[in-house]
Amino acid sequence: MTDRSNEQTRYACPYCASVFESYEAIKAHVLADHGEEPLPEPEDTIHITVNGQKYTMQVEPEWTLHYLIHDQLGLTGTKLMCDHGACGSCTVILNGKAVLSCMTLALECDGKILETVEGIAAAGHPLIEEYVKHHCMQCGYCTPGFVVTAKAMLDRNPDPDEKQIRAALGGNLCRCGTYPQHPKAILASAKKLKPEAGSQ
Ligand code: FES
Ligand code: FES
Repeated sequence: MTDRSNEQTRYACPYCASVFESYEAIKAHVLADHGEEPLPEPEDTIHITVNGQKYTMQVEPEWTLHYLIHDQLGLTGTKLMCDHGACGSCTVILNGKAVLSCMTLALECDGKILETVEGIAAAGHPLIEEYVKHHCMQCGYCTPGFVVTAKAMLDRNPDPDEKQIRAALGGNLCRCGTYPQHPKAILASAKKLKPEAGSQ
């Protein structure tokens, strides 16, 4: 067993990094020199905007983005099917780009803007209605991932053709085999989103 009897504990001031040899000494220093300053943020704190709402959260290094939104924030629309980056069910939009939340660490999301299927629905995006109209789901477990991927695609390409849609959805898997319906719903949504559609 390692003998630690000669090791001395040292205390570093979180404000100015001065080092002290006892807790009493650092306590006296903080009170005397930094008493008016706010406490520094704990390590592993992230600031993230989710569906327009700002959050400041302390996260564990191993938390995935999926765990953060699903289990910590209670946004259960984002589904976890494979947990290995292979199915697309957990897709969310991070800073405008579709990403897999099972493969993204929460710590990587500091300062970023996140959109989940709940935000897309709350904004009244036509994809929601068109997905229902075109019967794009059976069990529905994969559906939020498809909707979020489709939303990210329409944001960058508002006038896609069927081939482009199929390519964009290439990473989303559906065990129920609803594939033929998705392009139909997405084309109908794109039509609704065209500027002239709103003025008719
Ligand atoms: S659950 Fe993330 S890709 Fe399958
Ligand atoms: S609707 Fe069941 S997995 Fe896609």
